[in-house]
Amino acid sequence: MTTSNVGSANIGVVGLAVMGSNLARNLASREGNTVAVYNRSYERTDLLITEHPEAGFIASETIDEFVASLAKPRTAIIMVQAGKGTDAVISQLAERFEPGDIIVDGGNALFTDTIRREKEVSAKGINFVGAGISGGEEGALKGPSIMPGGSAEAYKTLGPILASIAAIAEGEPCVTHVGTDGAGHFVKMIHNGIEYADMQLIAEAYDILRQAGGYSPAEIAEIFTEWNKGDLESFLIEITAEVLKQVDAKTGKPFVDVVLDQAGSKGTGVWTVQTALNLGTPVSGIAEAVFARSLSSQSAQRAAVSGLPADATEWSIADKAAFVEDVRRALYASKLVAYSQGFDAIRAGAAEYGWKIDLGAVSKIWRGGCIIRAQFLNRIADAYAAKPDLESLIFDPYFKDAVAKSVKSWRNVVANASLAGIPAPAFASSLSYYDGLRSPRLPAALVQGQRDFFGAHTYKRVDRDGTFHTLWSGDRSEVEQEPSTH
Ligand code: 6PG
Repeated sequence: MTTSNVGSANIGVVGLAVMGSNLARNLASREGNTVAVYNRSYERTDLLITEHPEAGFIASETIDEFVASLAKPRTAIIMVQAGKGTDAVISQLAERFEPGDIIVDGGNALFTDTIRREKEVSAKGINFVGAGISGGEEGALKGPSIMPGGSAEAYKTLGPILASIAAIAEGEPCVTHVGTDGAGHFVKMIHNGIEYADMQLIAEAYDILRQAGGYSPAEIAEIFTEWNKGDLESFLIEITAEVLKQVDAKTGKPFVDVVLDQAGSKGTGVWTVQTALNLGTPVSGIAEAVFARSLSSQSAQRAAVSGLPADATEWSIADKAAFVEDVRRALYASKLVAYSQGFDAIRAGAAEYGWKIDLGAVSKIWRGGCIIRAQFLNRIADAYAAKPDLESLIFDPYFKDAVAKSVKSWRNVVANASLAGIPAPAFASSLSYYDGLRSPRLPAALVQGQRDFFGAHTYKRVDRDGTFHTLWSGDRSEVEQEPSTH
């Protein structure tokens, strides 16, 4: 770096693997940005500046040079693997940055790590921002959806820079200041949980169309392409059609048939379920999606128990068009449950961690750039615009009407998949969640009785205030008392 470059970059990127390089290129392509770049091994930096001279990068070989190349308030986005690598770079920057400067973690960090890091770094007067960046490598280059947390002060500088590179949906950049400290990474985690559910639901719809409907992957691709013109229009439906069209060059078979049926996971969906369990908020579809990936990977167990009696009945389909429409409606209703539960989890997280998160703003920035981008999110944005404190998306008039039109199909599909022995855990759990939500009376009453019988954990009554316990091992009379603490 030459002395003329000292303090000349308004934004810097540390970590130049594909995501980091693409983000740096995106930043450099926008009017008003001068981008500093640094990577621990200089080879990557050299490759980037050689392949993209047009970007006008300010390249540094050392972290000291990189920091010197940044204009104040120095602003650097870290794009390295979540975990120890991120901590190492944060320390390097925090040692060299001054109060008012801004460190951004653009990786998929666990939000509790971000809360810890923000406390440590802000103690030095330096701003720390955990920013979820969604859209994969292409999104990083062309326009991601960006979910930054951190302080309002940091967002004053960072916001316009992120807005210059974010995807645009309905004329608006897909970025908003989500909330303080870990709020951005929390919302990104929920995005990933919804992504898992969405992918699992699409996979279950595919499996039902294939196994029960007898459609080929290519024919199902056509069905998804058709669905992508309506309420289900989304990035995931679109790419699923492409995956199902793909033919394996080596064998000439459908690509999906040569792929090993064991799903991987980098862990963000697991975090979502763990966090929702701790927050006491149901995320049935997301949880079933995580468990379905785990089950698919239990290869030894599956091999040992394959051929278990199915005792299934043929799913007789008199009208194939009606069958396909039933699956489409079941997919839509189940997807609504997954998103509704995801937004409930954001609200529960905000209450727990003291964040003020605007659910309408979150739905708007998910309309473009991110993996779950979909026409559907415009409807969700409308729902929260109409009622910011909406108890549940399912109660929104538009969605209530949509579910009313779908629930019969939903039941047909779940019931027949079960009879036919086709696993549809996310469809089924979403329907049970819906039925649980709308039931005037739940068997939780019996659970309370069981808990009081073996643990004297007490119960409430429907007809009187107070807390009660029955003397099960005595005369079975009821006594009023304070709830047990053990
Ligand atoms: C995104 C994606 C991304 C995630 C990959 C892998 O928003 O761009 O969610 O952040 O890392 O999708 O996720 P899994 O390996 O957990 O499926």
